[in-house]
Amino acid sequence: MVTPSPSFETRTADLLNELSQTGQTKYLRHITSPMGPTVILEDQGEVICLCSNNYLGLADHPAVISAGVQGLRKYGAGTASVRFICGTFDCHRDLEQTIARFCHTEAALTYVSCWCANEALLTTITLPGDVIFSDALNHASLIDGIRLTRKVDRAVYKHNDLADLERQLQNHMDKPVRWVVTDGVFSMEGDLANLPGLVTLCKKYDARLIVDDSHGTGALGVGGRGTPEHFNLLGQIDILTGTLGKALGGAAGGYVAASGQVIDLLIQRSRPSLFSNALPATVACSANKAIEIIEQEPQRMAKLTSNVAQLRQGLNKLGYPCPPAETSPTAIIPIIVGETADAIAKSQRLMELGVWVIGFGYPVVPQGQARLRIQVSAALEKDHIEKALDAFSKL
Ligand SMILES: Cc1ncc(COP(=O)(O)O)c(C=O)c1O
Repeated sequence: MVTPSPSFETRTADLLNELSQTGQTKYLRHITSPMGPTVILEDQGEVICLCSNNYLGLADHPAVISAGVQGLRKYGAGTASVRFICGTFDCHRDLEQTIARFCHTEAALTYVSCWCANEALLTTITLPGDVIFSDALNHASLIDGIRLTRKVDRAVYKHNDLADLERQLQNHMDKPVRWVVTDGVFSMEGDLANLPGLVTLCKKYDARLIVDDSHGTGALGVGGRGTPEHFNLLGQIDILTGTLGKALGGAAGGYVAASGQVIDLLIQRSRPSLFSNALPATVACSANKAIEIIEQEPQRMAKLTSNVAQLRQGLNKLGYPCPPAETSPTAIIPIIVGETADAIAKSQRLMELGVWVIGFGYPVVPQGQARLRIQVSAALEKDHIEKALDAFSKL
């Protein structure tokens, strides 16, 4: 007799119980204030926030809010349509022109998230027979985008290992198009892709380079233009993707910034824009304003850079293993603790001390590499940084 498989309800209950018993359950915390250097949590009161991607402190900037309100008043909630039918406002075009200018590309196209942008891009630009080379630690949205491509060869190269990538490129010289895909700043490690090395390899092996700079844009480079600016490679990356849901206003939305030809192809063929609505007008207006502020106020990037250096230095002094800003300039500082339950317990202890830092475990990071992930913002003042370091000293 065949043993019946457990029902959906049974297997789900088993999984949820297991997560709970091993201390791995994730809880959604409810915030009752805007996102800033501190936030008010419903169950905890005011805490210093070291877990948002609000790198430049623009999420609650008065001009960003006001642009969104004006957008909502002028355009209403949306066009109730996908873009090519009846769904593109002039504020979408304005935002896309701003993004292209900011990223030093010919054109840009927005999506409701960077997740969508990555899936749209990878499934549209590739054709059967092509090959995609993907860094082993790429973001989940790139991985899923690659999974959705059809009849495309997929090769994963070791994290940031250019020798491994080169070997694999050599084995695929017969493919019509070679695509190399990488994060600019790796979201869980906080390290940088070796963009100069990748650009050189792509030229040598006639491959196209795609960089998702969601954690670099508005967080690196003197002008906030991300990893390409940091490495003096503005205008030299074939295709950039990024999010509007982190430094660039923090609401939601994503984009592809590339040549006019790539953007034209996406407008004609990418399913997430052909079959799904545009960004809400209020979000488009807020994001546009956020980028304008970054362009006009380079001091925000300077403050972020200084805060990153202070936090990295302070954590080092306390004995936490974290590379200094000279070698690791990103605003993401992981502290590896090992087991998921330990990371969650440490994050809870920090919360009791008034500092909000998330503990990440499996499946977000590999088993045994659970970590606390600290994220720095230009909105943090000296006092916040000192209080945060004090909490880490007590941990
Ligand atoms: C590298 C990277 N790419 C893409 C995304 C997805 O961005 P969005 O929230 O706009 O979908 C994230 C978000 O965590 C990310 O870190």
